[in-house]
Amino acid sequence: KKILLLNGPNLNRLGKREPDIYGIKTLEDIEQELSQVVKTHHGTLQAYQSNHEGELIDFIHQSDGEYDGIIFNPGAYTHTSIALRDAISSIAVPVIEVHISNVHQRESFRHTSLLAPVCQGQIVGLGIKGYELAALAFLQED
Ligand code: DQA
Repeated sequence: KKILLLNGPNLNRLGKREPDIYGIKTLEDIEQELSQVVKTHHGTLQAYQSNHEGELIDFIHQSDGEYDGIIFNPGAYTHTSIALRDAISSIAVPVIEVHISNVHQRESFRHTSLLAPVCQGQIVGLGIKGYELAALAFLQED
């Protein structure tokens, strides 16, 4: 299976950014570890990160017909972006939304996801393990 890992704004700061909330691993560490997990299950992983809403929309459009699943941490765009929601609705590839932190334990503006209703599922609050669990959901399904 072909999996796309997509990370949104500020996730390039992982490892340096609020480590008490997001942990000490860098995005590169996470991408490499996930790539190994996917390989073990005979899949391939492509990873992109962008701080730009439009670029994330372009990645989503381009993924249609190219991947079997998208693991998406949309960062703060989760809570604001109708445009990303419409992009997800426009493709046939299933998306699993992942948040490292438990957004429900945090500020109320993080409690709402505009994207979750158009995603296959959502994993929150399990740290970076959430990315792996999302990958396994795609790799083990049939
Ligand atoms: C996040 C949660 C968002 O509320 C926040 O804006 C992020 C990271 C998470 O992974 O926990 O950038 O998506």
